[in-house]
Amino acid sequence: MSTLEIKNLHVQVDTNDGPKPILKGVDLTVASGEVHAIMGPNGSGKSTLAYSIAGHPDYEVTEGEVLLDGVNILDMSVDERARAGLFLAMQYPVEVPGVTVANFLRTAKTAIDGEAPKVRQWIGQVNQAMENLRMDPAFSQRDVNAGFSGGEKKRFEILQMELLRPRFAILDETDSGLDIDALRIVSEGVNRLHDASDAGFLLITHYTRILRYIKPSHIHVFVDGRVAEEGGPDLADRLEEEGYDRFLA
Ligand SMILES: Nc1ncnc2c1ncn2[C@@H]1O[C@H](COP(=O)(O)OP(=O)(O)O)[C@@H](O)[C@H]1O
Ligand SMILES: [Mg+2]
Repeated sequence: MSTLEIKNLHVQVDTNDGPKPILKGVDLTVASGEVHAIMGPNGSGKSTLAYSIAGHPDYEVTEGEVLLDGVNILDMSVDERARAGLFLAMQYPVEVPGVTVANFLRTAKTAIDGEAPKVRQWIGQVNQAMENLRMDPAFSQRDVNAGFSGGEKKRFEILQMELLRPRFAILDETDSGLDIDALRIVSEGVNRLHDASDAGFLLITHYTRILRYIKPSHIHVFVDGRVAEEGGPDLADRLEEEGYDRFLA
């Protein structure tokens, strides 16, 4: 049983007009096996929270801490955080020309486990995971995200998550831009990992529709760099009906 604790997190970025505070005291704790949804309007700082936990160098933590089983991960490099069991599915996955999907996955798995996976077993796992996500095996030989459609990029993020088996997965709007079939396939991937491991999830989303397929235990409404309201699954129904208006007054 693990916990990811975000405590009083304040984050700023450098802009041409000087430092701009974005996160203004975020408190949130996720335990193994839990699925937390972070919902909120555009520009409220959801991606900033995801990047800050993952260790993006543009986001400067000015106050607070992020503890993984009591250890402050903010002192760790990005790869140390990944090895500690954190995974981020990015809102806008980047293209990496010259690096094939197969190579990328194997290199990432080796780096995280500290040893190369056994070849035959690994190939079986990759093929099975691709089949589960309805990804054509030909993707193995394509360059990472190069020329992938929006939906294909999101499936590839979930493929990485399923193969790397993190302790905590942060999914930043993995549902955005997906058609209904892709949304279901991506959701199934999350549910599969949830059933097969004790991973904890931080599911960042702008819309409530993914919550038809993934049932979060906790909902946090994120507004202007902090958690404005928290509740159980029924809070999502209320947001579906009312939108974020009452938070933006
Ligand atoms: N690197 C950056 N430089 C300047 N402003 C930024 C940067 N990253 C984020 N912001 C600003 O911080 C706010 C929150 O952004 P973001 O975390 O992407 O919100 P969300 O994911 O909730 O839509 C926005 O106003 C955005 O323009
Ligand atoms: Mg975002």
